[in-house]
Amino acid sequence: MTLIKDTGLLYSMQLGRNCSSCNRECSCQVLPRIAHLMPALMDSEKVKAYFEADNVVAHYADAAARLGLWVSEEKILTRLFKTDESILELGCGVGRIAIGLHELGYRNVLATDYSRPMIQRTRSLAKLLEYAIPTQVADARALKFEDEVFDGAIFGFNGLMQIPSEAGRIRALCEIYRVLRPGAWFVFTTHDRERSPYQEFWQAEYKRWVAKEQSPDLECFGDRAEQTKDGLHFMHVPTVEEMKAQLTEAGFRLEATVMRSELGEEPAEVKHFSDDCRFWVVQKL
Ligand SMILES: C[S@@+](CC[C@H](N)C(=O)[O-])C[C@H]1O[C@@H](n2cnc3c(N)ncnc32)[C@H](O)[C@@H]1O
Repeated sequence: MTLIKDTGLLYSMQLGRNCSSCNRECSCQVLPRIAHLMPALMDSEKVKAYFEADNVVAHYADAAARLGLWVSEEKILTRLFKTDESILELGCGVGRIAIGLHELGYRNVLATDYSRPMIQRTRSLAKLLEYAIPTQVADARALKFEDEVFDGAIFGFNGLMQIPSEAGRIRALCEIYRVLRPGAWFVFTTHDRERSPYQEFWQAEYKRWVAKEQSPDLECFGDRAEQTKDGLHFMHVPTVEEMKAQLTEAGFRLEATVMRSELGEEPAEVKHFSDDCRFWVVQKL
């Protein structure tokens, strides 16, 4: 590890500049800093196309109709948010969380996603259920809202980590920070690389990065990109330290972070739909 750290440091010192992706020292550990000095290869539009594919939209529509809110989500969200507060949901998919909150009496949740087909399907489902849920197409990296207009924000089921490049994810965090009122809560989830059940994969991946033999699709150590029949599925899997540094950079105060499995038992169908993940509860100061 020391060797790799030193190599990363040396590499950036030799080039005499910061990360070319975000024009600063990266927080996603030293090894990825080497990769950040390479041109960005992950195509954001390809990632978006995956979320516009019919099968993928159908998958999230099924989750919205069949699964509803997770036990863990209900516990956290109902403790933090009052039913009349204005809440911005990002990456809503087909409205699984917004619909679940509506059923608990929340009447001011704006469900947004950058995939238009996801939003169209959310509208159809809300109409079918006769729920008045406002929806909007919105990219978390460039929100078209005024400053400080929401009482809270949610980016559920690891959606923030499906934004390619550390710079893109930090931009989204900064945008969310901007549109929240001071004191507002933001709740999101990520996977946790150090608690991952795929430790063998990460060890092998680490060796590939050291040997500079990682997939050319990837920008940061912790990225996973997989070609599926519906297109490119992308996910960044951070460490806790990496995430803390990025939250600090965006201005958020960390209130709590906990694994979903530590909050209680989810039904079998929820566990089948989604692996364990880490909740983050953060506050705009
Ligand atoms: C894993 S899905 C979760 C969907 C839904 N929240 C759920 O739990 O069923 C992640 C969602 O994030 C959305 N997303 C990814 N990048 C985004 C971005 N930059 N801005 C807004 N939404 C984004 C995707 O379109 C997708 O619907």
